[in-house]
This record gives sequence, C-alpha cells and structure tokens, in this order.
Amino acid sequence: MAAQLIDGKKVAADIRAKLKIEIEELKSKGIHPGLAVVLVGENPASQKYVASKEKACAEIGVASFAHKIPATTTQPELIKLIDQLNNDTKVDGILVQLPLPKGLDEKEVMNRISPAKDVDGFGPEALGKLVLDEPGFVACTPHGAMKMIEAYGIDPKGKHAVIVGRSVIVGKPLALLLLRKHATVTICHSRTPNLKEECLRADILCAAVGKAKTITGDMVKEGAAVIDIGINVTPEGKIVGDVDFDAAKERAGYITPVPGGAGPMTIAMLMYNTVLAAKMAAGMKVDI
Ligand code: GUN
Repeated sequence: MAAQLIDGKKVAADIRAKLKIEIEELKSKGIHPGLAVVLVGENPASQKYVASKEKACAEIGVASFAHKIPATTTQPELIKLIDQLNNDTKVDGILVQLPLPKGLDEKEVMNRISPAKDVDGFGPEALGKLVLDEPGFVACTPHGAMKMIEAYGIDPKGKHAVIVGRSVIVGKPLALLLLRKHATVTICHSRTPNLKEECLRADILCAAVGKAKTITGDMVKEGAAVIDIGINVTPEGKIVGDVDFDAAKERAGYITPVPGGAGPMTIAMLMYNTVLAAKMAAGMKVDI
C-alpha cells in the first residue's frame, strides 16, 4: 500500500494564514513583529533560504530587516551588528543564516544573540529550556517536523521514534520534542553499527543526515511515518531528501516529500517564533 503524503506545504500555509490574522490583531494593538535576517557572504543556498524567509515575512506582515554583508566581514564587525540588533526595539527576532564563511566563529555569534530574540532556538538558553521542558523558542526545523506529525493525527505516545542524525539543530531537539510527546526515542548516527535494524523498529522514522538515500526502502517498517528532514542536491541539480522516497512510500504509512515537507515548515515555524518574540517583548502572556 502506498503511503499517505504529508503535505508540509499545505500545513505550513495553514500556519502562515493563522499567523497573518494574529499579526493583524497585534498591529491594531501597536505591536509590529520584526525579524532581522543576517546573511554573510554569497553562499547560493543561503541566499535562496534567506529570500524564502523574506517572502514569508512580506506575505504575513512581519517587517524584515535584511543585513546582507560581505564574506570579508570580521568577527568584531559581526558581533557589533548583533549587539545593534539586540538593542533595536523594532527587531523582535534575529536570524543569522548558517553556515558562516570560513574564519568566523559561529558559536560566538549565535551565543551573542539575546535569548529573547533567538527565534532560531539555537542558543544555550533555548536548548536548555527544551531539555528542562520549560517554555522557550523551539528550533524551527524540529518544531516543524512535530507540527507535520500532529497535523496528520500521528500521536507519538507509546510509539518508537528513531531519528537518524544527532545535530544540535535538528536531531537532538527533535528527540527531546518526541520524548515530550511520550515516544520512546532512539538516536542513530554515523557510528551506529546496525542502522537498518534500528530503523526497522521505528513507528516514526526521522531522517536528518544531509545525505541522499541514507534511508532505503528496506529500512522502513510497514506502516511507519517517515519524516524526511534532509535537503540535498543531486549531481543533476534535483533537490532530494535523505530518504529514497519512491521505495519508502511503498512501505510507509505516511511520508513527507522533499521538497514540500520539512522546508516550508521550517520557515512557517520561524514566523511563529518571531510572532512569539514580539508578543513577549510587548509583555503579553504567551502559551508555549
Ligand atoms: N542554515 C540552514 N538552515 C538554517 C536555519 O534553520 N537557521 C539558520 N540560522 N541557518 C540555517
């Protein structure tokens, strides 16, 4: 039986539509959500991501403040810009597009972003709160994966979730979010000896590796929900995920496509976090 497609594009559009209405209401109260996007250098993939983020801001009424600066920018110059944005009351959220050009210290830059404006959820405070199960900004890609699961009525409670990939920005936070929803979670990575056997135990199989066809059809349990969080470009220039989609869809119960799955959801959750930041900056009570 072929899997049901999880339409991330549609789930993301629904989230953006709700946010648009909420932003109109906020504006009537004098609250204008604003996002600063910092792009250092001319990485083509980063330019594309940043353009999508600016488009989403324009569509729903978030003010976007673009800072496109050269790859020759020095660490002190970049830190100075972050400090300016931290102190700018028009800016509710700050996003520094990664990766940064060689020679710049990503960790120092990300840690410099005020925790109140860390809409990426990559900083120590956001990640610490996630571990502690306290309200805070949740990293957009894993948050988006959870929202897709939720939108299709897949309840992680009591299920076995397997995540392939242990990155700080996807694999680890996703494991914590699935734990929060009472799944039993296994995290696999490059040194996991029996990846196929581990994946075959998954009711929810999440791939966040960054390598095409890491998950082949024979690694998918019959009826599993397959959440593909990879974005890779093939030698032919095609965008694909980490999962061999055509083979996996024959065994999965649900599957996310790439493109049209995790990508648009990441941007929708960035908008969500920016609205959240604006409400918190205005002293509003938020429910997170
Ligand atoms: N580079 C690729 N994905 C992301 C993301 O979600 N946030 C940031 N800041 N950089 C990225």
